[in-house]
Amino acid sequence: MKSAATTLPSNITRANGTLRHLLTLEDLPRATLESLLDDAERFVRPLSSPPARTNSLAGVTVANLFTEPSTRTRVSFELAARRLGADVVNLEVQLSSRTKGESMLDTIFTLQACHVDVFVIRDSEVGVLRLVANNVEPHVSVLSAGEAHLSHPTQGLLDMLTIRHHKPNFEKLGVAIVGDIRHSRVARSAWIALRTLGVTDIRIVAPAALMPDADQFSGCQRVESIEAGIAGVDVVMMLRIQKERMQSAAVPDAEDYFSEYGLSAARLACAKPDAIVMHPQPMNRGIEISSEVADGPQSVIREQVSNGVAVRMAVLETIVAGR
Ligand code: CP
Repeated sequence: MKSAATTLPSNITRANGTLRHLLTLEDLPRATLESLLDDAERFVRPLSSPPARTNSLAGVTVANLFTEPSTRTRVSFELAARRLGADVVNLEVQLSSRTKGESMLDTIFTLQACHVDVFVIRDSEVGVLRLVANNVEPHVSVLSAGEAHLSHPTQGLLDMLTIRHHKPNFEKLGVAIVGDIRHSRVARSAWIALRTLGVTDIRIVAPAALMPDADQFSGCQRVESIEAGIAGVDVVMMLRIQKERMQSAAVPDAEDYFSEYGLSAARLACAKPDAIVMHPQPMNRGIEISSEVADGPQSVIREQVSNGVAVRMAVLETIVAGR
């Protein structure tokens, strides 16, 4: 394990100073974040080549527990673990004994008794991941696959890896995060990671109703006009409207939203000519982004997905190597 990890806060480290859990990017030192990105580079392959494989997780069992829907995060954690040689269990929570009233912790203790070493958890409730991390055996790790509106650390890492491939000088970047910032764990993790890597020009662009409270996203410029918000930036990060976290009356009309905040090719021309366009997906085409832009030459949206597997391999390998 790299020496930088010895400066990590004790709630996510082992007694030997190595990274044990990854629940958030808050408090993760820059050296540790960069070290995870460097490790992930080893697993990046062009799609025309076979994927990277090692046996570094042989004998390790990883369990995926998702209580919210997922395509990319769940599949990429599973592929990452398998490509490192781990055994993988995917618990279909909706079909599990949770529906008979079994608690999350009893579910965890049951899987732990089956030799699960790493829990990958997505949960809609704030605090569940911390509860699990505080109650598992010392050799067991917990990785967040998304916690409510708060945190999506591996998405933040894969976003940084993707930006780094195109725009390596973070200190000089202008980044606009556009859309439903208020309900977005992706935006929160991106903001933390960008700040950690030295980005000073971070703009959050949203209608007033979708802006976060004033005490959040410190250091970001708040802009309500998308044209002004993306003017001259290097990176445009679009977000989905999180209908599942809104009262139905608050969900904006799709057509109105696209006309005010949708990223069309004409609007993208306000950013730098070589700006990259990102989106964590799932995308609502024609609501927050046009297909012309999503599938266009400035889009790195599919690269983000590929980098997600590499980042999750790096995170799994790092937390297991420190045991
Ligand atoms: N970006 C992301 O978290 O996608 P999924 O919800 O499909 O995992």
